[in-house]
Amino acid sequence: MSKKKKICVVAASAVIVAPMLFTTPASASSVSNGILSKIERQLSVNKILKDIERLSMDNGENKDNARVTGFEGEHEAAKYIQSQFEKLGLNSELKTVDGIDGFIDEGSSLTINNQSVTVKTLTYSQPTNQKLEGELAYAKTGTENECKEANLQGKIALIQRGSISFAEKAKNAYNNGAVGVIIYNNASGMLNGTLGKLNDSVVPTVGMSLEDGKVLVDKVNAGESVNVAMEVKTIVKPNSFSYNVVGELPAHKNIRNPQTLVVGAHFDSVSCPGANDNASGTATILELARLISQPEIKNKLQYNVKFVAFGAEEIGLVGSEKYVEQLVQSGEAQNIAGMINLDMVGVGDQVVTYNIDDNASHKITDIAHENINELGYKFGGHFNSGSSDHAPFEAEGIPSVFIQFDKDPYYHTDEDTLDKIDPQNIKETATLVLNMLMDMQEKSPNKPNKQNKKQFKNIEFENEEMPSF
Ligand code: BES
Ligand code: ZN
Repeated sequence: MSKKKKICVVAASAVIVAPMLFTTPASASSVSNGILSKIERQLSVNKILKDIERLSMDNGENKDNARVTGFEGEHEAAKYIQSQFEKLGLNSELKTVDGIDGFIDEGSSLTINNQSVTVKTLTYSQPTNQKLEGELAYAKTGTENECKEANLQGKIALIQRGSISFAEKAKNAYNNGAVGVIIYNNASGMLNGTLGKLNDSVVPTVGMSLEDGKVLVDKVNAGESVNVAMEVKTIVKPNSFSYNVVGELPAHKNIRNPQTLVVGAHFDSVSCPGANDNASGTATILELARLISQPEIKNKLQYNVKFVAFGAEEIGLVGSEKYVEQLVQSGEAQNIAGMINLDMVGVGDQVVTYNIDDNASHKITDIAHENINELGYKFGGHFNSGSSDHAPFEAEGIPSVFIQFDKDPYYHTDEDTLDKIDPQNIKETATLVLNMLMDMQEKSPNKPNKQNKKQFKNIEFENEEMPSF
């Protein structure tokens, strides 16, 4: 794709969007003469890219502290997002999420008989003091008995993934004298995992691929003496906090008991720039908020629309879980008509959708699929995943969909930077969500007149140059 693409002005196309967003249908001509040209409700990909840049830039001295959960960079990003909601005139709220242990993986290394092997720090691992050296001992899947039998005193335990949690394996090994733990995968490839909580962390613990793990098991089983040197560097911030940031556009006051639509994206990151994961989704919801908050649209909404930027996603969906818990406690959960989650929408060449499973209603997913189809986007398929913020909503029975572009080779690496973002993906995502919101307006139980069928799909840009990187 040529990235420097001049988008032509198709004034009329943008015009037809309007009636669908209003409670009172307006004729195309009255709209074209007035509202839309006045509010210039065109989507600006450049604004989204600027926000991605703003969110993913280096954060002073500690460049890896981009928006890591519980650290300053994340808190600063939350305040920026709130300031943007405020600027747009949304009812905004910064909701503190307590009980967060901040953790930054500063890298780990391992050598086996002086040969280096790739490992990955488990989240919440203890650090090593300088380098840790010891003999390798194999403790199978790391149950209490297996650890007892493996004679781990002063050694580094090699344990296979499976049957019990990583934290339990590490604890069992530690209780039997191990000074370090390596957990290798039970499927091909690297093991990337978490010990769950800082409190559950007792010993330096790293993940290893199945392939490397097997080679080591064979060596130990053959009676070879295997010497391990291991180093784990971390930064922790215990008892920290995070934020969920909410920007609300209330439904028109004439709508009795309006339902709420949530459009969400997490804004925290692991220790990398996080341009795609997930400054892309965050910046896109900010632009959607800007478009929908144009008074001519805002004043006629049939749903409350809540834009929610979630914190603490990367440590286990903690922000969105807390948010849903609060919805349930206040009774508001029953009133949520749907949730759209944007996570990693800037890299890849096909749009994909996810739900946790087939249990909850797929009403919103169906609307996404209809629109993806009508817009003619390349669709990579629908999958099951609970790895993002739609999961707590879906688990509560709220119709939800997780929208993503696939596939991002820079996921959770230092290469997750602005230059990898494809503006076309951003444009397509924002267009898709706008169309979905229009459909929901159209299908709203409150809509008095359903004659106005949606005719418009692709949103065009007015005089906007596509960025050239
Ligand atoms: N954006 C990712 C999830 C993701 C990545 C989904 C690639 C599908 C493809 C998210 O921020 C993340 O990293 N989630 C964690 C799980 C979470 C429960 C801590 C993950 O997938 O490891
Ligand atoms: Zn993410």
